[in-house]
Amino acid sequence: MKTEDIPVLVEYLVADHGPLPDGPGKSVLLNRCTICHDLQRVRQHPSSAEGWEDTLLAMLDEGAMLSDDEFAVLLNYRQELQTLGLLDSALATLSGPSDRFSIP
Ligand code: HEC
Repeated sequence: MKTEDIPVLVEYLVADHGPLPDGPGKSVLLNRCTICHDLQRVRQHPSSAEGWEDTLLAMLDEGAMLSDDEFAVLLNYRQELQTLGLLDSALATLSGPSDRFSIP
């Protein structure tokens, strides 16, 4: 691998595979929400805090397999991601400031 390939690789890994704060939400998100689209999709279009529940319900309609417990876990997990600055969308920042995650 060439040195100039490293940033590209890092960007790919971060977008699709992490970083995610540890906790129950992490495994739910990785196991249930990356079947039809990648994690990047969730990060870039996370919807506002108010719209998140609707987004999750829409995913259930699409066919996502979420138990009631997992649904509740994910409902809270969005806030955790946002607090850590792991959501990309302008919408995500509407409901509060977040320090953007950046690769040094
Ligand atoms: C059964 C397939 C499926 C599963 C599982 C799934 N999604 Fe989706 N998701 C979709 C489809 C279809 C779209 C429509 C956008 C597209 O064309 O990719 C979408 C779009 C999205 C979007 C973007 C909405 C927008 O306004 O653009 C978010 C956020 C999202 N999903 C979150 C999740 C989360 C969180 C989970 C886990 C609970 C999940 N998805 C699981 C099918 C799925």
